[in-house]
Amino acid sequence: MSPSSSKIPYGGDYNPEQWPQEVRDADHRLFTKAGIDTLTVGVFTWSLTQPAEDTYDFTDLDRILDQAAAEGRQVCLATGTAAMPPWIARKYPEVNRTDFEGRRHRYGQRHNFCPSSPAYRGLATGIAARLAERYADHPALLAWHINNEYGGVCYCALCAEAFREWLRDKYDSLAALNDAWWATFWSHRFTDWAEIEPPNALTEHWRGPDHTAFQGITLDYFRFTTDALLGCFLAEKEVIRAHDPVTPVTTNFMGMFRPLDYHRWAPHLDFASWDSYPPLDAPPTWPALAHDLMRGLKDGAPFWLMEQTPSTTACRDVNPLRRPGELRLATFQAIAHGADAALYFQMRASRGACEKYHGAVIGHAGRDDTRVFREVAEIGRELEVLADASLGARTPARTALLFDWDSWWALEISDGPSRPVKYQEVVHAYYRAAREAGADVDVVPHTADLTPYDVVLAPALHMVKGDLAARLEAVAARGGTVLTTFLSGRVDEHDRAFLADVPGPLAPLMGIRIDEWDARPPEFTQPVAELASQGRLVFEIVRLRGAETVATYGSDFYAGTPAVTRNRYGQGEGWYIATALDQPGVNQVLRRVLARHDLIGPYADQEGLETAARTAPDGSRLLFLLNHTAEPARLTAHATATDLLTGKQTEAGAPLTLDPRGVAVLRLQ
Ligand code: GAL
Repeated sequence: MSPSSSKIPYGGDYNPEQWPQEVRDADHRLFTKAGIDTLTVGVFTWSLTQPAEDTYDFTDLDRILDQAAAEGRQVCLATGTAAMPPWIARKYPEVNRTDFEGRRHRYGQRHNFCPSSPAYRGLATGIAARLAERYADHPALLAWHINNEYGGVCYCALCAEAFREWLRDKYDSLAALNDAWWATFWSHRFTDWAEIEPPNALTEHWRGPDHTAFQGITLDYFRFTTDALLGCFLAEKEVIRAHDPVTPVTTNFMGMFRPLDYHRWAPHLDFASWDSYPPLDAPPTWPALAHDLMRGLKDGAPFWLMEQTPSTTACRDVNPLRRPGELRLATFQAIAHGADAALYFQMRASRGACEKYHGAVIGHAGRDDTRVFREVAEIGRELEVLADASLGARTPARTALLFDWDSWWALEISDGPSRPVKYQEVVHAYYRAAREAGADVDVVPHTADLTPYDVVLAPALHMVKGDLAARLEAVAARGGTVLTTFLSGRVDEHDRAFLADVPGPLAPLMGIRIDEWDARPPEFTQPVAELASQGRLVFEIVRLRGAETVATYGSDFYAGTPAVTRNRYGQGEGWYIATALDQPGVNQVLRRVLARHDLIGPYADQEGLETAARTAPDGSRLLFLLNHTAEPARLTAHATATDLLTGKQTEAGAPLTLDPRGVAVLRLQ
C-alpha cells in the first residue's frame, strides 16, 4: 500500500514551528512557485506538542496542517519520536542510552532513546496515538512518518534483560545457545541466562564494535538491536492503526546502513522510504545501488526518496555544493530506480544550531532568485509535466544481486582473513559492472524468489542460510548464471564454519574446492593476466573440481592457479571469483556473464551514461537516460521513443543528444 497520488509528490521536511506566521505565509508563496505539493512536518515538534507529561498542545500543529490543506498541499506527518523533549530524559533517566563503553548518557542530541525502555515506549506511543486520533481524517494527510532514521545501539541493563528474553525466544535452551555460539571455545559455556552480557567494550570486545571474541554473540546483538528498534516502530504503528486504518505508514531508512537489517523491517512498512546522502566521492552507481536496495525491500514496489539535500550537507568536515544540474540528475536517478516521491531535507534553513548551514530550498534570506531555488522550481515544473507517467512503475530486471545484512556483519566482525575487505565495496564493484553494462538489477534478500532472473550475483555471500544453495543451483540448472566471490559460503547462520570444503554449500555449483587463502595488505596487487587486471586483499587458492579456469594468478607460489573459474551446471553456469579484482577485471567478467543472456544494454559503451528501465502499470516502457558527465552525450537512438520531459520524438537510428548532466525520460514505442 503506497500513498495515492496523481503525480510524483514533491517537497520535503519543513519545520514551520521554528517560524512566525508571516514567514510561513511567504514560504507557501514560494512553494507554489516551485511546484512544491508535499511537506513532511512534525519530525521535531514533540517538545511543543507535549511540553509536560500530562500537557498536550496541538495549537501550532493544527495551524500548520490547516495551512497546508488550505494551500492545497499534502502532508507526510511524522510522529516526531526521534527527538525527545528534555523533560522526558530528566524524569525518566533510563530513556537515555548506555553506550558501547558502558556510559549512561544524559540529555542531549536526538536519535538517542533506549529501545527497551518502557517509559520511552509508553511516551512515544502516547504521542503517536494522540496525533493519529487528531489528524487521521485531516484533509492534508497523505502518509505517516514514524520516528526518524532509526539507528544506534544501547547496552543498558534493560537492554541486557531484553536481549536475554530475545535469546530465550530464539534458542529455547542454553544448550542450543551454547552450541550456536560455539561457547566451549574460551570456556564460555553459559549455565544461566543471567550470565549473558551484551557484547561491548566491557565484555567481549576490544578495539571497538567490530572486534569481538565471539562473533555469534555480537551477531545476535545486531539482530536483537534491529528487532528492538523495529519493536518501537511497530508499537507506534499499532496505535496509529487503532485510529487510522488506511493511511500508509513508513519510516525513513538510510539505504546501505549497516546497523539495521532492513530486510527484517520491510514486511512491516506499507511502503519503503529513504534519505539519500551519498558519500562525497561516490560514483553514481553508489546511490543507485542504495535505491535498488530500497526498491527490493517491498518486492520491487516503488519507494519514496524521503530526503536529499538540494545543495549541500552540513555534517561533514567539508561540505561541497551540488554543481548546477547535479540535483536534477540525482532526482531523476532516484525516479529511474523506482522513487515515486522526490523530497528534500529541507524546505527552509534553520536559523540556529548545527544544521543552519545545511542546504535548503529557501535560505535565510527567503529569496526565490537563487540558483538552488531556480533548479528546485525547474524540477518541480518537470515533475508536473511527467505527471503520473512513472507512478507505480516496476523495474523489469533479469539480473538479481543478493544483499545480505548477516553476511555484511559476519564478514566485517570476523578475525581473519582480512579486515580491509569491506562488504559494500565488494557488492558495489559487481553492481557497478552490471549497471555500467546497461543491465537493470534487482537488489534482493537471500529469501527472494529467484525464478524471474537469468543472472544472480552473490558477491561476498559469507553466510549461506536456509535453502539458498539449492535455489541458486536451480537458477543454474535451468540455464541461468550464478556468480559468487571470495569469502562466500564460509559460515552458517550462527557464524560457524561449514564442516566441508570451501565454499561450503556453494561448492557443488561452483565446481571448485578451496583449502587455503592468502591475505595481503591493501597496497599489494597480484596480476591476473587473462583479464589484464589485478587482484587484491584476498587470494583464495582454488582447486578445480569440474570447473574450468577463466583467469589465473600471475605470481607467488600459487602462480598459474585459478583466480576466476566457470562451472557448467545443468543448462547454466556457476562463476567464482577468488580475489578482489579491480573494477576493469570485474567489468570483463560481468560483461561475459551478461552477454550470455543478451543483457548488455544498447548504450553500454557510452561512458558516464546511465540507463534504467521501468514499466508503468499501463504497460508503457520507460527508459531513463542520465548523463553523469559534464560533456554532452551524443547517442544514436536504439528505438523510436518520445521524451516525456520535452515531448520530442526520436526515430530509431537518429542522433540523440543529452546535455551535460542531462536527463531524458523516453517512452519507448
Ligand atoms: C537526516 C535527518 C534530517 C537532517 C538531515 C541533514 O539524516 O533525517 O533530520 O538531519 O539528515 O542532512
